[in-house]
Amino acid sequence: MTLLLQTPAAVLSRLRRTLRPDTPSPLLGATVLVTGASSGIGEHTAYAAADRGAHVVLVARRADELARVAAGVEARGARASTYAVDLTDGEAVDAMVADLLARHGAVDYLVNNAGRSIRRSLELSHDRFHDFERMMAVNFFGPVRLTMGLLPAMRAQRFGHVVNVVTWGNQVKAPKFAAYIASKSALDVFGRIMGREAYFDNVTCTNVRVALVATDMIGPTEAYAGRRAESPEHCAERIVRALEDRPVTVDGLVGSVAEVFNVVAPRLSDLVFAELSRRSPDSAAARGEAREPAVRG
Ligand SMILES: NC(=O)c1ccc[n+]([C@@H]2O[C@H](COP(=O)([O-])OP(=O)(O)OC[C@H]3O[C@@H](n4cnc5c(N)ncnc54)[C@H](OP(=O)(O)O)[C@@H]3O)[C@@H](O)[C@H]2O)c1
Repeated sequence: MTLLLQTPAAVLSRLRRTLRPDTPSPLLGATVLVTGASSGIGEHTAYAAADRGAHVVLVARRADELARVAAGVEARGARASTYAVDLTDGEAVDAMVADLLARHGAVDYLVNNAGRSIRRSLELSHDRFHDFERMMAVNFFGPVRLTMGLLPAMRAQRFGHVVNVVTWGNQVKAPKFAAYIASKSALDVFGRIMGREAYFDNVTCTNVRVALVATDMIGPTEAYAGRRAESPEHCAERIVRALEDRPVTVDGLVGSVAEVFNVVAPRLSDLVFAELSRRSPDSAAARGEAREPAVRG
């Protein structure tokens, strides 16, 4: 399924790199901007890009954590730049883009990874419209504003690749994640259309539909306790491979099976997911009965 959804060029690129591991990475000497680089998947993506010899631009809100990750990048012999920016602050994003372009020129690779997740049923959300607004602010408007800021310079240099770190939820459409999955689906669609419009300028996009990864983000979700999760290092490696190979999507087996199920038997899949949701109630955090927040990231 993954192979079918990738471009043949991406498959050949990976095959070439597997057969000839000494092939230089296209990331060598390139500028790679990673948002949400202060922890989890973004932190390890920064290290994996540094291992390929990239100049890594680290973006997140926590300056102290960014400094720690920058030291890790530099310890790998790579160059790091940091920007402590809240991606929900549009003017701050514009100012960062202007500074970045003036100092470093075009960004070659952009990883839209910063994000927040929330698991709360609609039943508990009738008076919580702000849940939908804050999901869109960080998971959609932030990365769109950043991408739109960097896109003209990418198009002008006739090269650029954007990786959106989205979720298998886009394929599964899991109950209790309406606000989160809707925001990530919006980014998924934006990226796909951007890749079509910028096709002849050689600017492309990969949507990486990530499943469960063992980071701070999944901590408050009781439903995930004891579930097998991918390590952030492994996930980061898949993201950096997506930068190198530029497939259209990176999917996992479960997400792809659910996507086909949703297309082939949509009402039956509604029933199956309704039943699964009934067996997995809202967490204490989502009900507002725990000290841990239901929103992380
Ligand atoms: N973990 C999973 O199971 C999973 C599954 C599917 C998709 N994902 C996606 O993977 C991405 C990374 O998440 P993670 O699991 O690595 O969680 P994480 O460790 O909590 O990382 C989230 C990152 O986003 C940054 N961030 C949050 N709000 C921000 C804002 N307003 N402005 C700038 N940066 C902000 C955080 O940095 P600061 O707090 O320093 O700003 C942090 O670096 C997210 O987009 C998430 O939706 C994760």
